[in-house]
Amino acid sequence: MDAMVQSSAAPNPWPGCDGFAHHLLEGLRKTPKEIACKFFYDSEGSALFEAICALPEYYQTRTEVALLRRHAGEIASLIGPGAQIVEFGAGALRKIRILLDALASPAAYVPIDISGAYLRDVVRLLAADYPALSLSPVIADFTLPLTLPPFLPSGSGRRVGFFPGSTIGNFRPPAALALLRRMREHLGGGGLLIGVDLVKDPALLHAAYNDSAGVTAAFNKNLLARANRELGAGFDLDAFAHYAPYDLHNRRIEMYLVSAKRQSIQLAGETIHFAAGEAVHTEDSQKYSIECFREMAVRAGFSPRAVWTDENRLFSLHWLES
Ligand code: AVJ
Repeated sequence: MDAMVQSSAAPNPWPGCDGFAHHLLEGLRKTPKEIACKFFYDSEGSALFEAICALPEYYQTRTEVALLRRHAGEIASLIGPGAQIVEFGAGALRKIRILLDALASPAAYVPIDISGAYLRDVVRLLAADYPALSLSPVIADFTLPLTLPPFLPSGSGRRVGFFPGSTIGNFRPPAALALLRRMREHLGGGGLLIGVDLVKDPALLHAAYNDSAGVTAAFNKNLLARANRELGAGFDLDAFAHYAPYDLHNRRIEMYLVSAKRQSIQLAGETIHFAAGEAVHTEDSQKYSIECFREMAVRAGFSPRAVWTDENRLFSLHWLES
């Protein structure tokens, strides 16, 4: 695969782990302890996330897919012909296929993802179905500064960012604003199609992150399972609990792994202590109102145009021009 590879400024001392070992050690030395949510998505974690997307309580994926399907024609006419689609974090192929199928002769697809193996699969599958599409995968962490492949020759359509799944919710509002600004710089003159989860009944939000089948708990604990698999850490998964409350004031789900007892584990020759009840922060999932998100988009320099939502106002899809 001919992919652009970009590494972060700090060299990765544990090649092959995407910096997981280094990050884990740093995050668990902190008070309060934390592990960044981007490390959820190894192959086990990605499979667990796919299972979350199909849960009855997790309304987000099916609602967003339905919005994309319902409004694909209108979205395609707003974007115009010959578009170059840049996806920030290559997600499930289902969503990009809906977009590509609706667009008039899309020129290029530029998926950006930290997993080169995943990008290789994406490119192989899309190349078979879209022979006229130029595929330019970029192996990079889109949360860090990055360089995109050069624009296609003139005559091609606009450059459009695609950021579905409310991944923007993983960032605290100041970081989300900064990320939107950087995206806008990359998309100059184009636009951004972005999915954003909405503020709603806290009971619905709570259920979506505390499903009765325990899949979200397994997804959260996969961080520890991954540490055991990749780094030989000795985490006892039963000695940690999944905890995902909705913070009404800040309008976000916060996810934690809580130590059920006083314990210590060995990691890369270091001993990490956990007090009974001590929490490791693993994810935020910020919720927005439509108005609040549009205001943030304006502050990032975008002109918010169309917005689509479902009849229950669970999820929103925004078309922002840059
Ligand atoms: C993929 C970040 C949108 O916040 O809902 C699902 C990840 N975490 N259940 C979300 C997730 C727990 C998800 N995002």
